[in-house]
Amino acid sequence: MQTLLSKYTPVTESEVKIWFKAGPIHAFPDNAGACVKYQDKQIAVFHFTAQGRWYACQNLCPHRMEMVLSRGLIGDEKGEPKVACPMHKRTFSLLTGENLTGDCGTIAVYPVKVADGEVYIGFS
Ligand code: FES
Repeated sequence: MQTLLSKYTPVTESEVKIWFKAGPIHAFPDNAGACVKYQDKQIAVFHFTAQGRWYACQNLCPHRMEMVLSRGLIGDEKGEPKVACPMHKRTFSLLTGENLTGDCGTIAVYPVKVADGEVYIGFS
């Protein structure tokens, strides 16, 4: 279990060494998530169309170690983008990875940029 979680460490924009091309914008659903693979990681990517913002985090929910966060409902809490796990509704900030329901661990979040119609996720 711990090994699975240890694959995912948060990356800040200044730590990015590789911008991984995740796919064209149109390959991602509006106001929902999609899962992409990068090496041995599953990454959930979310497009908030109203604000034109993109977020990425580990697809692994730390509550029961399920690869499900890309299927979670997204929303915002006082301006903070968040995803709710579809299994038991633990909620996480897509800015910081913090568990907003305060009942399990945090998740790793990754920078996202869009250039020339393509979505990129930053890894260190
Ligand atoms: S597996 Fe995600 S909240 Fe339980």
